[in-house]
Amino acid sequence: MVSQKEKKGNSVKAPTSLLCEYVSNPLGVDVSLPRFSWVLKHSERGQVQSAYQVLVSNSQANLDAERGDQWNSGKVASKESTNVIYKGSDLQSGKTSYWKVRIWDKDGKMSPWSKVATFEMGLLSRDDWRGKWIEGKGYGESTFSDPVQGTTKMPYGYLLRKEFSIEKDIAQARVYVSGLGYYELRINGDKVGEVVLDPGWTDYKKRVLYSTYDVGKYLRKGKNAVGIMLGNGRYIKAYGYGPPKVILQLNIEFTDDSSESIVTDESWKVGQSPITENSIYNGEVYDARLEGLGWDTPFYDDSDWDAARIADEPGGKLVSQASFPPIKVSKIIQPMKITNPESEVYIYDFGQNFTGWVRLCLSGARGTRVKLRYAELLHEDGMLNVVPNRGAKATDAYILKGEGQEVYEPRFTYHGFRYVEVTGFPGTPTLESIEGRVVHSAVEPTGGFICSNSLINSIHKNVLWGQLSNLMSIPTDCPQRDERMGWMGDAQLVAEEAIYNFGMAGFYIKWLEDIGDSQAQDGSVPDVVPAYWSIYPADPTWGTACVVIPWYLYQYYGDRRILEKYYSGIKKWVDFLTSKAKDDILSYSKYGDWCPPAHIKPVDTPGELTSSWYYYHDTLILSKIAHILDKSEDAKKYAELSEKIKKAFNKEFLKENCYSGEKYSDLYKKAEALFPATVPEDKKKEMIKKFIASFLISSQTCNVLALFLDIVPEDKQKAVLKNLIDDIVVTHSNHLNTGIVGTRYILDVLTKYGRTDLAYKLATQTTYPGWGYMLREGATTLWERWEYLVDSGMNSHNHIMFGSIDAWFYKVLAGINIDPAGPGFGRTIIKPYVVGDLNYVSASIRTMRGMISSSWKKSDHSLALNIILPVNTQAKVSVPKMNLGDVTIKESGKTVWENSSYIEGIAGITGASEDDEYVIFNVGSGSYSFELLKGKS
Ligand code: BGC
Repeated sequence: MVSQKEKKGNSVKAPTSLLCEYVSNPLGVDVSLPRFSWVLKHSERGQVQSAYQVLVSNSQANLDAERGDQWNSGKVASKESTNVIYKGSDLQSGKTSYWKVRIWDKDGKMSPWSKVATFEMGLLSRDDWRGKWIEGKGYGESTFSDPVQGTTKMPYGYLLRKEFSIEKDIAQARVYVSGLGYYELRINGDKVGEVVLDPGWTDYKKRVLYSTYDVGKYLRKGKNAVGIMLGNGRYIKAYGYGPPKVILQLNIEFTDDSSESIVTDESWKVGQSPITENSIYNGEVYDARLEGLGWDTPFYDDSDWDAARIADEPGGKLVSQASFPPIKVSKIIQPMKITNPESEVYIYDFGQNFTGWVRLCLSGARGTRVKLRYAELLHEDGMLNVVPNRGAKATDAYILKGEGQEVYEPRFTYHGFRYVEVTGFPGTPTLESIEGRVVHSAVEPTGGFICSNSLINSIHKNVLWGQLSNLMSIPTDCPQRDERMGWMGDAQLVAEEAIYNFGMAGFYIKWLEDIGDSQAQDGSVPDVVPAYWSIYPADPTWGTACVVIPWYLYQYYGDRRILEKYYSGIKKWVDFLTSKAKDDILSYSKYGDWCPPAHIKPVDTPGELTSSWYYYHDTLILSKIAHILDKSEDAKKYAELSEKIKKAFNKEFLKENCYSGEKYSDLYKKAEALFPATVPEDKKKEMIKKFIASFLISSQTCNVLALFLDIVPEDKQKAVLKNLIDDIVVTHSNHLNTGIVGTRYILDVLTKYGRTDLAYKLATQTTYPGWGYMLREGATTLWERWEYLVDSGMNSHNHIMFGSIDAWFYKVLAGINIDPAGPGFGRTIIKPYVVGDLNYVSASIRTMRGMISSSWKKSDHSLALNIILPVNTQAKVSVPKMNLGDVTIKESGKTVWENSSYIEGIAGITGASEDDEYVIFNVGSGSYSFELLKGKS
């Protein structure tokens, strides 16, 4: 019976966007207690959830009858609408569950039930896998040059196939598959799904990812065939793996409730692949003459194929990729231009640096070999400049079979490029002969930003391209040269930017597992994860990723489980740093404030300052996490340790008016020698101090770091800030002089200390060094260096590590911020800055609770600020007063602030206060149109 009260609740709508472990209707969930999230809808403002009820059933019919036979949570008084943990009966491998949710709003009104969502479990234990890892015997060693390890014997990509018959009607079919390094799965002549370069990279000795596909539509009654192409990926000897191998299980359920499995075993056949060479770095060679027409269909004679053999297991635990966004072709782009700088050499320009490959469309004589070379740059003479690729050959080749129109795109390699050189093309290629395939981990775009300054919009665009180019199942440093590693420093510095722009939870959850896998006994982590290059221990600036990423997942997605899961790892890392520290100063450093202007290594920011700062940073966060997890002893212990580090930091690095790595005692001695003995002692001391202050080598980064974490003693704050500002304004004529570390924090610091105007100048600076300079020089992504470099060395044109600026656009220009008091946007702080020449800014982010957006538009004596807040989110909305003196603020036409007083009566707004620059409203969910006017209404 629905009560009268509940019936009237028609303004509270059914929850939408149901997610299980961050994914809509996932297949292959292998978390034993998955978590549910939903988005609330309500026609009233200021609404929050007061209770929820979740039902989970093993059939749609049961759920329709409101039977939660797996879990009926009952009415739970709770505000939680994200990551609510399943508490029902044990979930079985391969089984589908159906679930729905309803909520009660703050007034106790009940919503209708949501639509039904599903989640399906993966293969939860190794015993559920009935197939074995298989490989092709001796297939086929070829001499292969690996850019990292030199020439090694590498296996070709090869093919595997299996025929089988289906006699009954299919109810449902699932494939669970992992093929190392890469596989392409085909059934009855079709590629299954849209995923490419699968599975995601891991340390295969610790963890192997598998994918789950719904393959019902590919199968038919009668004869069927499944085919697999294998490639090397990262599963190569150079990293201690290989040769390629595969495990697959096809579970078919029939309408009569019986079932059958097709699994990899010795009955599979192995044949040579037309892919005769493949390497991530070097490219792919495809000989179409070797194609066995129909090899992936049941109409193929494989009598001359070999039997597969049982392979050694890779060693890693099989783990599902259910929540992890797979790599896909996300976009197709057409070349803008084709040139012919030399006879028979054609250069295509896509007008955009990106990651992926090209699809080639051509016809010609059998045996014609067409070569594709990829690069970011051209030489002056219009020829390809492949120097930034370093050891990566980045060359694909296609050998025609000569049968009319042929279409080719590589499968087991990828490139970072803007230009493609085509040689050996039969006839004259046209703009239509190739198209660009943009490839990266298919993270969902969740952010949007636009403003009235076109330079900022272009920087934002370059950051997006750069960020996506460097999400290749791990966060990479670059996509073009012989690295493409999960450099932890690069990743942690831009994680906030990535989270503003994309749905990163599933991606980072997987990478955290990689980090966990790589953590050594002593608590250290490597510089690159997975540790294909075993570089231990990480520079503290790089290793901090193991702290920063879980912390962000908690703050931005409200993911407390991540904190619980990685707590001991974070603690081990901090304890490791402690073991390396002396007198609370951490001296070891490898890279520090990497890539400041004109340098690779930091010049005036000492490594021990950066390392000690991160030691403080990590200890402080650890103490906060301990507090959140109710580990009060640890919280106290690490808070105390962080205080000690802070003290030591000031003692060691704080000089008269700035932070510097120079030893005060050394400087004193040097200075003392300059003063004649005749100067009286007490005067001398004073003079030396002043003298030292004037020639102390500090840096913007040194001061920025100290200011960012409130390390600077209050009485020194002004002096340190002045030193920083003088350095920016006077010494560097409104330019930053920071490497990747200082750059990450400098804009935030200037905003924090009231100099958003100067931060804006840096952000929009068009002369060297700055983002605007990159754009002026034609960058379409971000560079590794502040300089435009075209020679050999460190000069990637698609590095993301300077991309941290983009988070500042969202946080400061649009003003959308997390509020630590309500992780996962239970609370948010909206505080836009009206700055520089900006006339309008508009941004939105799709959070776990729904869309938050902030848009403002300024005119001479007024400002319009439109805000959207999802149900179950509360906000402090700061409306800038724009130095207009007396102001009136209206919301949707009604006055809500006048004569420096809050006027009650507007739905959703529960109070307001003011400071020098803002009127700050307490606001609940809903859409609001604030208007600021000069004077009284
Ligand atoms: C990478 C960087 C990385 C650095 C560490 C470089 O080769 O490309 O992005 O963080 O090494 O030193």
